[in-house]
Amino acid sequence: MCGIVGYVGNQDAVPVLLGGLAKLEYRGYDSAGVAVLQGEKIAVRRSVGKLINLEKSLKEKELKGTVGIGHTRWATHGKPSEQNAHPHRSKGCVLVHNGIIENYQPLKQQLEKEGYRFESETDTEVVAHLIDKYLQRGEKLADAVRSATKEVRGSYALAVISEREPGTLIAARSGCPLVVGHTKQASYVASDVMAMLAHTRDVTYLEEGDVAIVTKDEVQLTDIEGRPVSRKPSKITWDSSAAEKSGYPHFMLKEIHEQPQTILDTMRGRYSYETGEADLPDIGLTAKEFASVERIWIVACGTSWHAGLVGKYLLEEMVRAPVQVDIGSEFRYRDPLVGKNDLFITISQSGETADTLAAAREAKEKGARVVSIVNVVGSTLARESDGVLYTHCGPEIGVASTKAFTAQLCALYLLALHLARVRNVMKAADGKAWLDRLVRLPVLVERVLGREAEIVAIAKRYYKKRNFLFLGRGINYPIALEGSLKLKEISYIHAEGYAAGEMKHGPIALIDKDMPVVVLAPRDRLYEKTVSNLMEVKARRAPVIAFVAEGERELGKIADAVFTVPDTHPLISPILFTIPLQLLAYHIAVLRGADVDQPRNLAKSVTVE
Ligand code: G6P
Repeated sequence: MCGIVGYVGNQDAVPVLLGGLAKLEYRGYDSAGVAVLQGEKIAVRRSVGKLINLEKSLKEKELKGTVGIGHTRWATHGKPSEQNAHPHRSKGCVLVHNGIIENYQPLKQQLEKEGYRFESETDTEVVAHLIDKYLQRGEKLADAVRSATKEVRGSYALAVISEREPGTLIAARSGCPLVVGHTKQASYVASDVMAMLAHTRDVTYLEEGDVAIVTKDEVQLTDIEGRPVSRKPSKITWDSSAAEKSGYPHFMLKEIHEQPQTILDTMRGRYSYETGEADLPDIGLTAKEFASVERIWIVACGTSWHAGLVGKYLLEEMVRAPVQVDIGSEFRYRDPLVGKNDLFITISQSGETADTLAAAREAKEKGARVVSIVNVVGSTLARESDGVLYTHCGPEIGVASTKAFTAQLCALYLLALHLARVRNVMKAADGKAWLDRLVRLPVLVERVLGREAEIVAIAKRYYKKRNFLFLGRGINYPIALEGSLKLKEISYIHAEGYAAGEMKHGPIALIDKDMPVVVLAPRDRLYEKTVSNLMEVKARRAPVIAFVAEGERELGKIADAVFTVPDTHPLISPILFTIPLQLLAYHIAVLRGADVDQPRNLAKSVTVE
């Protein structure tokens, strides 16, 4: 979603802003812009499309100054256009915004009555005019931002500069992430730490309602009433090369290939082989508290929701407790029956997804204990949860989630093991057997990755098809959903994931020779049923691409293309089936010439509803 950068220092601001915006491209955007204080005036430059268009325009006519803000916009209110792109201006006040101002219409009507003219269709412009209104009343910029934000309903991260206070940038946060960084020479603001990593690793995440007064010499934090607040600074420890492509043509491919390592990193140091237990020190609940959990909820969005669905099969089988899985946006508006004895698990790569966050807050309010599986350290979800289980997979840049998903599954394996052991439904010996299987995973994943050429061959046979059906059963049904999501996200092919047993209740009507059917068939107790489903598909002349466990013979005779994955325990198999489906989506998208890392209309982190 939208990205924000801000700079106050001694250097030329434009290269710093463009460098920061380039690091935010992965979040998804459709237009971009910067504003720079040139002498006493703020100059704004905006362009539709990729950052390169903005760069070109800035090359043709330079902007010079040492204070500035920049933005990548992902359209919500108003089409992608130069007029709707940020920064927005109201007289000498210029700002960039991430989020949605829900009451912008009444505010706009009021401001129009007061004589303000609107140049864009955005919700953001009301904030610029509101701030100007308070500036005209004589308020200082920070006060004017506070007064304006008190009038808006919705979510925002803001970076504001004004011709009246040339060396000051005001940043404000409510509902959307914002981080500030400071060095001896300059201060930085961004919606994502990635944008300032080239300059500093010492950062401070703003909290809800925080307002930062940023100058080149210091960053002061206050609450919305102007009272000073202090926030714990964080040090970013991961290697910045993690955010580079390291020779791969796309971040997505690099991230797919990182999975043996990220799986290892997510499990490292988190179990005891001797006792057959998981060791999760930040999990937030004591063994006694876990033992008294009556019901488990898992709430997430997108790919993380698919991890949650796998979690249901896993936890119900291993922990023998009922698990309900919900999509964040569905959960939050239906007054869900969450109780004090419930364990509420949220899963999120970014830790900033608006609906997942809202669900966690709702569950907390209802008395449940919230444990989050999160990748981004220090993210809002991580900070607000009672316990956190980080997936240590480094920054995920490709919009289509890959390594974060398999790391989430590993985190769920560890959590399931922990719960099963502390609730005494699993013996130490069985816990050890589990760990045996888990520790072998990186090697098995490596083996699958080593056979990428076979997937490329399959992709070449089918990449021109317009529709795909993915079928799976049991714990691999969510993997069918994930496989189809990956394909549609990055190749724009229509793909549906279905529970194989449901095929006769609808999708079978679509099946013909032009609809490849991807079938996941591990050797589990549902294997024979899956084979029957496949016969039904074949009878309708659809090409069948079968993903099967090593050693399987039957499907090889029926299917048009077969890929084998190492045979492992059925509950572990989802990770091994995921890898070839990620590769299949990737290679099909590449063959179709799609923009794999930044698919159209998609955002890496959906921070608005
Ligand atoms: C967006 C991303 C997906 C991601 C989903 C949930 O749709 O494009 O890749 O799975 O958000 O994001 P989260 O950060 O909460 O896992």
